[in-house]
Amino acid sequence: MTTSQIKSDTITVTPLKDKPLGCTVSLPSYCHNDPSLLNENDHKKLYEAVLTYLVVVIPGQGDFSPKSQYNLTKSFDSSLSDEISYGHEDKILANDKSILKRDLITIKEQPEVHVLGNGVWNNPKYGKDDINLKHPTHFTFHKDHLPKEKCFNVPEGEIPWTRFYRWHIDSALYKLYPPKITTLLGLKVPSKEKRQLVKYDDDEQNELLVQQAATCFVSGANAFDLLSEEDKVLVLNSKVMYAPHPYIYISQCGATNDGLTICNEGKELDLNELPSWEEKHIMKLPLVWTNPVTGKHHLQVHGCCVYKLFLPNGKVLELEQARELIYKWMKPAINPEHVYAHEWSNGELCIFYNRGVWHSVSGQFDEGETRLCHQCNIASNEIPTVNA
Ligand SMILES: [Fe+2]
Repeated sequence: MTTSQIKSDTITVTPLKDKPLGCTVSLPSYCHNDPSLLNENDHKKLYEAVLTYLVVVIPGQGDFSPKSQYNLTKSFDSSLSDEISYGHEDKILANDKSILKRDLITIKEQPEVHVLGNGVWNNPKYGKDDINLKHPTHFTFHKDHLPKEKCFNVPEGEIPWTRFYRWHIDSALYKLYPPKITTLLGLKVPSKEKRQLVKYDDDEQNELLVQQAATCFVSGANAFDLLSEEDKVLVLNSKVMYAPHPYIYISQCGATNDGLTICNEGKELDLNELPSWEEKHIMKLPLVWTNPVTGKHHLQVHGCCVYKLFLPNGKVLELEQARELIYKWMKPAINPEHVYAHEWSNGELCIFYNRGVWHSVSGQFDEGETRLCHQCNIASNEIPTVNA
């Protein structure tokens, strides 16, 4: 056995080369390939790696159990008690009008772990019947769409076009505080040779070539750093209010081509058309959240769900103006050179700092193409804060 074959007895963290963020982690032998079994010292190193590099990739996790995934996800948030909930309320997630509506396919033994992907799957973990997963695409969310013939069943040799579906932070943004960490396990993913071209359809005609259904990330700290000095002061001292049940509020709306915000067309539901809500549960959060490990400021805002913007001079921007200003702040951060498009291999586990990155689904699938992922995030009991 050569030295390089001897497994280290502690985790090793390797930053991704030539990428704007991310690292890979290899596990020590004592945890038997289960990152939820790391000792206190290694767990601390892993936590610091997640908050420093924002996305941690652990390969070879095809057998990572839902129970371990839940335990690992929970372990990063000391505010969680035994009474915890998934990042969203189930009855709201399942509401027919919600843009997050899914059939709520969860793992029976570990309902905090959700099943995402595309195609028909059968596994006792998901119940006795087949489940039918549908990968979300911009066709159901953006105001304007790419030509379908450029996206589906394209002639051989042509690269299908796609869009960022929706840039977001995982969060209900009503009643429940944003989860600190999301874990995403890619069990069956498209081959790396399958490429799709993300079209920004913006003024610069930006494009980004990615693996089919790559998960795209940008750093909220980089978004903050890209702002002018004047805007930094402004965002550090502003607050954003989200609509009550925001995903239902915007259910009739169309998003911009880049998936960053909603087009102002007046299609939002009236607040009295929403499921019952209470003033005290409406989320009003700082625009910037300070990273407790690095001390960096992250611009963390869900551009599609904003409702009002409270500026430091006491001025309140209502919906349309709030969206426009926040969009202006967010847009530079998704330029191609700032995006880390995670190109999946089967069995990879991504752990990301949900309070430090924005992420987006990309891609679409032709009939018969499949993908399978397990996702877990848990609403925190701690409000995100800024150390201005
Ligand atoms: Fe997400």
